[in-house]
Amino acid sequence: MKLLMTVVSAAVALAGLALAVGAALSAPSRGKRLAQALRMPHPAVIAHRGASYYAPESTRPAYLLAREMGADYLELDLQRTRDGVLIVFHDDDLSRTTDVAEVFPGRERAPVGSFTFEELARLDAGSWFNRRFPKRARPAFRSLRILRLDEVLALAEGKDPRPGLYIETKSAHRYPGIERQLIETLAAQGWIDRAAVGPQSRVILQSFELDSLARLQALAPQVPRVFLIDETLIAREGWNSLLKKAQTVASGIGTWGLRHALSPRWDRAAAPVRYLTTWPWYTGGAHRAGLVVHAWTVNDRCELRALRLFGVDGFFTDRPDLALAMGGRGSALEPGRLWEKIGY
Ligand code: G3P
Ligand code: CA
Repeated sequence: MKLLMTVVSAAVALAGLALAVGAALSAPSRGKRLAQALRMPHPAVIAHRGASYYAPESTRPAYLLAREMGADYLELDLQRTRDGVLIVFHDDDLSRTTDVAEVFPGRERAPVGSFTFEELARLDAGSWFNRRFPKRARPAFRSLRILRLDEVLALAEGKDPRPGLYIETKSAHRYPGIERQLIETLAAQGWIDRAAVGPQSRVILQSFELDSLARLQALAPQVPRVFLIDETLIAREGWNSLLKKAQTVASGIGTWGLRHALSPRWDRAAAPVRYLTTWPWYTGGAHRAGLVVHAWTVNDRCELRALRLFGVDGFFTDRPDLALAMGGRGSALEPGRLWEKIGY
């Protein structure tokens, strides 16, 4: 028993020491200065697929709620239909979040990009949420539609000040020319000014694909870019090499929070070692390389607080209200009033 107590006490002391050293190493103010130079909010609150804890991801109510909560950015995954329409959808196929199995039997696993927009418009992208999360279900979520990019731009425009957009070119290698199409759309709608000098952080562009970021850099160098990393990349390249690659095309990296690193969803086949890339040793290294660190997907208060201490500069979150409250920000309206305000 005595031995056990000694071991536990030593472990607690070591953890405390590591925390203190780590917090010092991370130099959070360095990240803040980097963010300020990029004109990014700090810490940035990025509504991951909208306020997707409360409403079906990537749908109208998810983005409206995030906007009304006061999120700094609406995050979205950009893909393209067979007939060339830019749409907002995360998965490779439609099976998890729509009724594709009933509407198009046999095409459940077909890639999203093999559907026309007219076909996608026939799908219900909301009822799955009511079945999976009955406590958060709302009748109005039935029959929600997959959104086009221009619809999300219009939703963001509907508030003053409007939230920014944090746009991922998802699986960009499948959609040749999507970067040019995106930049032209954003420029045409006044979201970016290609002639302006200096960073324009009302839009942040993100991708797991370095090539896609390089194309975006060539098309709109003044728009900040974030290089997303995953288990496969870090296991193959190592942290320092990833930072060097990120420096060539981006102003920041997007990496996982503590929960993902410790969870059963960690891809152990790709990366047998679990990298805690939001640990201060890592965030400090990214800052010294001139890169801000945004962490996904952080949905609880303890983790938000820990990651702030560790030097993380922004959070992808399904619960933007929690991240905003941590900084004393966000809507004064309680959730019920917010739903009333947006009409759901
Ligand atoms: O886009 C940021 C981060 O959330 C990447 O993961 O799979 O949600 O797009 P995913
Ligand atoms: Ca994303």
